[in-house]
Amino acid sequence: MKNTVVTLSQAKKKGEKISMLTAYDYSTAKLIDEAGINAILVGDSLGNVCLGYENTLSVTMEDMIHHTAAVSRGCENALIVSDLPFMSYQASVYDAVKNAGRLVKEGRAHAVKLEGGKDFVPHIEAIVKASIPVMAHIGLTPQSVNALGGFKVQGKSLEAARKLIDDALALEEAGAFAVLMECVPARLAQIITDKLSVPTIGIGAGAGCDGQVLVYQDMLAMYSGFLPKFVKKYADIGDIMKEAFKSYKDEVSKGIFPGEENMFSIDDEVIQKLY
Ligand code: KIV
Repeated sequence: MKNTVVTLSQAKKKGEKISMLTAYDYSTAKLIDEAGINAILVGDSLGNVCLGYENTLSVTMEDMIHHTAAVSRGCENALIVSDLPFMSYQASVYDAVKNAGRLVKEGRAHAVKLEGGKDFVPHIEAIVKASIPVMAHIGLTPQSVNALGGFKVQGKSLEAARKLIDDALALEEAGAFAVLMECVPARLAQIITDKLSVPTIGIGAGAGCDGQVLVYQDMLAMYSGFLPKFVKKYADIGDIMKEAFKSYKDEVSKGIFPGEENMFSIDDEVIQKLY
């Protein structure tokens, strides 16, 4: 079944949980799509897990378009949400609409995601007016790492919790089709989920959200950087890959690979004429 912003909204109404994973390339997106995951996020976590940056701040629109287009070529049914990278929307509503449009037009995304609360209501309203669905992202917003003073759980004080609730309500009112919450205490995320009529997607926000998202390299233990507490390891693919790379190196150095079965043949007659 094709996933759309409408089917995701229906899922919340029916009490069906929404699954989402990140992807950044064609072959991974195809596997995730074939596994029946509802939505794929081409996150700007691309910067960390694919491009080796220490944070997401250096990711460009060109990076996002390039990887979103690759993901889109691998998907039949998943809803593709692409991140607006740092400084592609913050400076003006015009930038926000123009760059959201590029992710859809050039990257073939179905929707875009942007980080921030109430301050971004005008941006979301304008993007939605251009018929582009927007997923809002609150709580820990990695593009604000310098302002937040690090990667920390958000909304723990009464004031901060109230602000997150107000932000979520304002973002829904602005037209966001979903609200992603990152690193938010589970009970607060549950309150926000109950208050909103659009689906909430959590990452480090507990089981009460309408859906969950994980960075795929994290859940497959492929990424050797910092692994947050909210990640569950579903397979040790990193170790499996490293073992395979070592076996390959070993077989190449011993002349075991390539074997007969990996080579192309040619008629003896042709070879004899070459001597
Ligand atoms: O960029 C990303 O992968 C994200 C997730 C952490 C939600 O925004």
